Formats: sequence, C-alpha cells, structure tokens
Amino acid sequence: MDMTTPIGVWLADELDQVSLVMSDHLKNKHKEVAAICEELAAYKGKMLRPTMLLLSWKSVSSCETTPEAVRVAAGVVELIHLATLVHDDILDESDLRRGAQTINSLFGNEAAVMLGDYLLSSAFLLCSTIKNPELNLLLGGVTNTLCAGELVQLSRRNDMDLDLESYFQIIHDKTASLIAASCEMGAVLGCGSGREIKALKEFGSSVGMAFQIKDDLLDLLGERAIIGKPAGRDLDKGKLTLPIITMLVENPSLKDGFQKIMSDGDRDALSALLHSTGAISSAFDRVSKTVDGAVSGVEEIFENESSKQLCALAKQLKSSV
Ligand code: FPP
Ligand code: MG
Repeated sequence: MDMTTPIGVWLADELDQVSLVMSDHLKNKHKEVAAICEELAAYKGKMLRPTMLLLSWKSVSSCETTPEAVRVAAGVVELIHLATLVHDDILDESDLRRGAQTINSLFGNEAAVMLGDYLLSSAFLLCSTIKNPELNLLLGGVTNTLCAGELVQLSRRNDMDLDLESYFQIIHDKTASLIAASCEMGAVLGCGSGREIKALKEFGSSVGMAFQIKDDLLDLLGERAIIGKPAGRDLDKGKLTLPIITMLVENPSLKDGFQKIMSDGDRDALSALLHSTGAISSAFDRVSKTVDGAVSGVEEIFENESSKQLCALAKQLKSSV
C-alpha cells in the first residue's frame, strides 16, 4: 500500500509501535531465550494480520487516537502467527523462510518446539493484559482450530481421495481462521455493530482462504530463490492442494500417473500436467473470485479510507505471482 497517504503514514507508524510492543514483551532475563528470539527478526514479514486488525479497527472506529489495547491486540495476533510458522517449519522440515534460515535449522527441532510454545504462551499472556475476556476466548478458539486443522492435514497426507470440501476446511482452519480473528478483534475493539463485526470477520476469512490457495500455488509453481522458502514442499510432504484435487476430481483416470509423479518428486511433470488440464488457471480463478466476494462484502457496508485499504490489500492477491 502507498505509505505516503495519510492512512499509509498512520499505518506505518502504528506497525512500528506494534513491533515495539512485541519485542518488549518477548524480552527475557535469560540470555539463551533472548538469543533465539533475536533470530525471529528474520521471520518478520508483511505484518498482514496486525495490518488487517488495525485497518478493521479504523474502519469501525471514529477515535482520533489509537488506544494501546489495539496495538497490543495486533502484537498478539502476530505472535500467534510467528508461533505457527516456527512449528510449521519443523513439520515441513524447512530450512528457509523469507530467505533466511529457519529456527529449526539454526537451533534444532527441540529448541524450535519450545520457542513456538514460548511465543504462544507469550501471546496469551500479552492478550490477558488487555483485560477483555472476549478476546482471550476468541483467540483460545482460534488456536484450537489452527491445531485441529494441522492435525487433519497430517492425517490426510498422500490421500488421493481428499475432496475439495475437506481441503477448504483444512485451509480455513490452519490459515483463514487467524486472519478472520484479526479482523474480528479489530472490529470488536472499535465497538463495531454486530453486522460490522460479522462482515469484517467474513472478509478476513475469505482473504485467508485466497491467501492460502495462492501460497499453495506458489509452492507448486515458484522457485526457492524467489519465494524465499523451499518450493515443492507440499508435494514432498504428501499435501494435496487445490489444483491437484481439482485435477483428480475432474480426471480420476490421472490418479495412477499422478501417484508416479509424486513418488518421483517430479515437479516439472506435475506442473505440465496441471497446466494442461486447466487446474492451475482454475485455482487462480478461485483466488480471484474469493477476493471479489470479500471486497463486495466489505463495500456493501463500509465506505471509508480504511475499508478501501483493506479491499486494496485483498486485491493484491489477484496478481499472478
Ligand atoms: C502454513 O502452511 C501453516 C500454517 C498457516 C499453520 C501452522 C499451524 C501449526 C503448525 C499448528 C499450530 C501451532 C501453534 C503454535 C498454535 P504451509 O506449510 O502451507 O505454509 P508455508 O508455505 O508458509 O510453510
Ligand atoms: Mg510450511
């Protein structure tokens, strides 16, 4: 987004404050803990979840100044996100994230498990300082959903019969639920009406779905140096994603050929097959339609600079890379 506009300047400043809240909160008297937390700097990405929380808050609130609770909540959702990334890299045996070495590759799996736990407990501790039990309840539900989504995904590895409904449920649970909660929390803190809270939560959920479908496409089609993480890891780990499921549902006779490609780990052959059956373009279409639905849901009830920025953010997912 354009950070020179008034809303862009506001957001950049607020995100800096959120980063400070997080780094202050992660401070620990033990130098061993400080050392491993320092490596998290490399995990810092676009701060999508705090951004969506802040913009959701601003979409419903007419407050001139941002209450500290809003920044704290934005730090909380990012801490939960970081915890999931640290654990996810262990599960995926990934050595690279955002172009930097992962915690598990630097410190080993045991330390990475504990760091993920430390981040998660830090998130809940920080959330409790807001003294709004509704937020703690909401986040408790979301982290449960996240973990359940990952457990289901694990149990469905290499399952050629994985259907679209199950795939959408998995990506909702592991990814979209936290993005939806980020928007919901912003709207709750801004004292939005029931209708506004529901609309922003649904917007976050749709953006989360589109985001994960796109992430899965990048895993299939992208290159390590460009996406900053190992490519083809879903295939290595037996995770079937949207283009593959669509292809197999529409062409069940391709199952044997696909199984061979999978055991050979032949990404080029897979990509050729997915392109030739139209499964790739159909997945990109799905991203576009999901984003369009999200945007029209928000445009139906909001018309302010912040809601426009939320929609602009969602539309970025429609680019082909
Ligand atoms: C990324 O999937 C994974 C997630 C968004 C969720 C990970 C959740 C867990 C590991 C369980 C919950 C953990 C805690 C601490 C609550 P991906 O592998 O498709 O994405 P990637 O390409 O970014 O690795
Ligand atoms: Mg992963």
